[in-house]
Amino acid sequence: MKQERQADFSRPVTSNQAGVHPRLAQNLQRHLESEFKRPIAPHSQAAYAELAKSLSSSPRPLILDSFCGTGMSTAVLAARYPNHLIVGIDQSAHRLGKHVPASADNYLLLRANAEDIWQLLLKDGHRPTNHFLLYPNPWPKSKHLQRRIHGHASFATLLALGGAIEVRSNWQLYLEEFGMAMFLAGRFGVVAQIPNEPALTLFEEKYRLSGHPLWRYHSGPQ
Ligand SMILES: C[S@@+](CC[C@H](N)C(=O)[O-])C[C@H]1O[C@@H](n2cnc3c(N)ncnc32)[C@H](O)[C@@H]1O
Repeated sequence: MKQERQADFSRPVTSNQAGVHPRLAQNLQRHLESEFKRPIAPHSQAAYAELAKSLSSSPRPLILDSFCGTGMSTAVLAARYPNHLIVGIDQSAHRLGKHVPASADNYLLLRANAEDIWQLLLKDGHRPTNHFLLYPNPWPKSKHLQRRIHGHASFATLLALGGAIEVRSNWQLYLEEFGMAMFLAGRFGVVAQIPNEPALTLFEEKYRLSGHPLWRYHSGPQ
């Protein structure tokens, strides 16, 4: 019983970082000056083949739901955008295996590295209209800047893909930092608290039940 309660509640993010990372700009500049070209993992390549097939057999505007976990948000977005193809991407077969199928048929779940799929889409000229990145792992230790989305070498690929971007987190500083990186790269967005609305993801639901304030970064289409 005790264990179940622990699993349902989570602690707010704590970090040894008091403000935006002092090396954010320097790190970003290095990444923007060099092309991100990591070898594509075979399982990502296979997952992408499924996506490419779906896009060529039924061309539709594309929405990405990177780091989708169980794909709950992917199914919600599919109902919200019936004329789009929504693509949920997660590296965890375990999480994807817990997906509860929805009636909408305009979504796909891919087990893949998100950065691989971004590279492949970019190479083939596909651009999403919207890109959702909901509750990415926060990597709160200062030394882990490079593991955050905006500190990673693939950030340049995310920027090049374009589209309206939405990132959600229960760590406000993560989004302030993401917004600062976007601003330094020439894109403007807003960080705001998410109103108390039905949860879009399982992590959102868990954080809400734990009483955390939740935040969203949003920028319009590029
Ligand atoms: C904190 S969970 C959030 C899941 C979901 N968006 C939610 O809010 O319920 C972060 C997810 O990112 C996935 N992930 C982390 N790095 C990834 C990567 N490079 N490519 C694809 N998925 C990744 C993990 O497997 C995990 O499911």
